[in-house]
Amino acid sequence: MKPGILVTRHVFPEAVSILEPVGDIQYNDSATGLSAAELRAAVAGKQAVVCQLTDKIDADFMDAGSDLKVISNVAVGFDNIDIPAATERGIVVTNTPGVLTDTTADLAFTLLMAAARRITEAERFLRSGDWHQWEIDMMVGHDIHKHTLGILGLGRIGQGMAKRASGFDMRVIYHDMNRATPEEEEAWGIEYVDKETLFRDSDFLSIHVPLNEHTRHIVGAAELELMKPTAVLVNTARGPVVDEKALADALESGSIASAGLDVFEEEPVVEPRLLKLENIVMVPHIGSASIKTRTRMCTMAAENTAAVLQGERPPNPVNPEVLQGGAV
Ligand code: DGY
Repeated sequence: MKPGILVTRHVFPEAVSILEPVGDIQYNDSATGLSAAELRAAVAGKQAVVCQLTDKIDADFMDAGSDLKVISNVAVGFDNIDIPAATERGIVVTNTPGVLTDTTADLAFTLLMAAARRITEAERFLRSGDWHQWEIDMMVGHDIHKHTLGILGLGRIGQGMAKRASGFDMRVIYHDMNRATPEEEEAWGIEYVDKETLFRDSDFLSIHVPLNEHTRHIVGAAELELMKPTAVLVNTARGPVVDEKALADALESGSIASAGLDVFEEEPVVEPRLLKLENIVMVPHIGSASIKTRTRMCTMAAENTAAVLQGERPPNPVNPEVLQGGAV
C-alpha cells in the first residue's frame, strides 16, 4: 500500500505530479484551508503533509497524525509549525529556502521605492481625476540613490537587498545576531552597526528576520521613535515583527515618513488605521509571488516529501537532528 499524503491547499500542478507516484494523495484543491478539526481528521493515517504558512501545524495536529514522517511547508518561513513538537515526535519538517530569495528581495526593493516616491498615492491621485496641472511640489518624495539602507537580519534576503542597494550607490548598514566576516562585509559593501544605530541612521530600514520569540515586535514604539522623520520602513518578513499599532502612530504623527508592507500581524486582517493612511504602500503577502518562484516552492516541497517517503534524506530539513537520530 502506498503511503498517504495530505495536501492541505491548492498547489501548482507540477507538485502533484511529483507526489502521485510516491503516495496516495488526499488533496484539498482549494484556496480555502481546512479548519483545525478538519486538518486533524484529514491527517489521521497519513505519513506526509504538504502544508502552507496559513495552516497551523501544532502538537494536536501531530498527535492526530501519529503516522506522520514528514511535514513539508511550502514556504521558507516555518513559524506556523511547532518545530520542537515535531522533533519530539521524530517528524522531519522541511521548508523551501533559496528559491525565493531574489523574488522577495525584488519585492522589498519595489516597496522601498514605491513608498519613497509615493507611487501608489500618486496613482490613486491620477485615477481620481483630480490632476489638473503640473506643479513644482506635487507628490514630492524622497531620493533613494546615495542614501542609507539599513538591513535588520542579514540572511539570504537581507543580502539580496544589499546587492540591489549597491546599484543605487547606497550606504548599506546592517544588524544581525550573527555578524558577517570582515571579508563578507567588504565583498558585499556593508557595515555592521548596533541596533540603535541602525534605527537612527537608516533612511530606509528593511526587515529580514524570521519570526520567533526574540523577534516578535522587534520594531515597536521605542525603535520607531529612534528613526528619522524622513525614514521609510519596509517589512517583507513576518507581520508580528512590527507592532502595527505603534507603526500607525508613527505614520499618523509623521515621526517616520512612510512604510511599505507585504506582511501583517493578523493576516488577512489589516490594522484599520493603516488602511486610512496615504503614506503607506501595502500588498497582500506577495513577496515570493512570481509564477516561477511559487511553482518551484511547490515542487521543492513535493521533492522533500518524496525523499522522506522513499527513505532518503530530504534536501531541506529544518530539524535535521531527527534524521541523525535515524528516524527516517
Ligand atoms: C515564505 O516563504 O516564508 C513567504 O512568506 C511566502 O513565500
